[in-house]
Amino acid sequence: MTLTLLLDPIGSTVLAEACSAYAPGGELKLVEQLRRRYDAAVVTAAVTQASLRHRAVAKFGAEDAARMYFTPDGLEQATRSTVGTHRAARIAATLPGASVVDLGCGIGGDLISAARAGLRVTGVERDPETAAAARANLAALGLAGEVVVGDAEAQDVTQYEVVFADPARRADGRRVFDHNAYSPPWSFISELLERTACVKVAPGIPHDAVPAGVEAEWVSDAGEVKEAALWSGKLYGGTARRATLLPGGATVAAAPEAVEGPVGRYIYEPDGAVVRAGLVTAVAEAVGGWLLDLRIAYVTADALVATPLASVYEVIEELPYREKALRAWVRAQGIGTLEIKKRGVDVDPAVLRKRLAPKGAASATLIVTRIGRDAVAYSCRRIPA
Ligand SMILES: C[S@@+](CC[C@H](N)C(=O)[O-])C[C@H]1O[C@@H](n2cnc3c(N)ncnc32)[C@H](O)[C@@H]1O
Repeated sequence: MTLTLLLDPIGSTVLAEACSAYAPGGELKLVEQLRRRYDAAVVTAAVTQASLRHRAVAKFGAEDAARMYFTPDGLEQATRSTVGTHRAARIAATLPGASVVDLGCGIGGDLISAARAGLRVTGVERDPETAAAARANLAALGLAGEVVVGDAEAQDVTQYEVVFADPARRADGRRVFDHNAYSPPWSFISELLERTACVKVAPGIPHDAVPAGVEAEWVSDAGEVKEAALWSGKLYGGTARRATLLPGGATVAAAPEAVEGPVGRYIYEPDGAVVRAGLVTAVAEAVGGWLLDLRIAYVTADALVATPLASVYEVIEELPYREKALRAWVRAQGIGTLEIKKRGVDVDPAVLRKRLAPKGAASATLIVTRIGRDAVAYSCRRIPA
């Protein structure tokens, strides 16, 4: 196990040196320098770890990343701390100080968030190296908790108040999108949802795969949809679907009936979590608007209402959705920076942008969508958040 090489006094010294001298792209030179004084195996492990810590800053922040231990897969699959903290806070708010077993805890991203929220954590991980990283991470961050090497499916979970699982969504190094291909398998995961549980799944989970009496919460962070969390038992919030937008924490759960109407002065583009949760009409309600088309996730309104749930664009004019007309518009307006948004039409924004050949000092947003059977385009101005 390469990780254990870094935990003894010599390993820690080499790791500290590797981390302080680390610069992306300079790995080979760093290995060469450290090799003059230290054993090859420990140097390779230290430089690899330094590079993983550098990459981990985006997920865990500089302060924690500098103290944590990773495996390449473990870092790739770990939950970013913003999202883990949000989930852990919800568990702790409902069941303060509860005992939580994390089945398939990886390097412990979620375990750390749960321990910090005051939950009593036990991690189960089948890969010994990954489990060692999780254990080392709790210790390095001064958190209590236990990590055991084992098969999630063989655990007796009855002694814990909450079961948490973030099943592996990778096979042979590739991302798995079908929930039936998770490990531990969906058959096992869906049984956990008969207890008080929280299960993290990919945001593409079909709505009809979520068992009755379980809440699915789609979560985005800085506008990017990260996951859906399934909540059951005492953690069920009494609603089938929810969207939560981090870092602010705005959350919606009810969708009023959809109303369709003509384009207003503004177009609102709902956050991806709201769209995935099927709660677009909540945005319409929040801004006093309606949908451009019942099947498409664009809201329109005459009022400019600040909402965390959507990006807002002021409509300048409606344009014919024909390449020649659009190219003439780009040229006439001197548009050099062209943002293209689309929903409901089969167009690749990057390809269309290239074909429209933007050149000039002006900037604009083009929203391409479908109303009924017709494709339409709107020239817009993005309203800053
Ligand atoms: C997506 S990762 C967990 C990431 C973790 N939540 C975090 O934030 O760091 C899933 C983990 O489950 C482990 N795993 C998969 N099947 C398992 C099983 N049957 N028993 C125990 N662990 C398993 C994998 O080795 C992997 O480390």
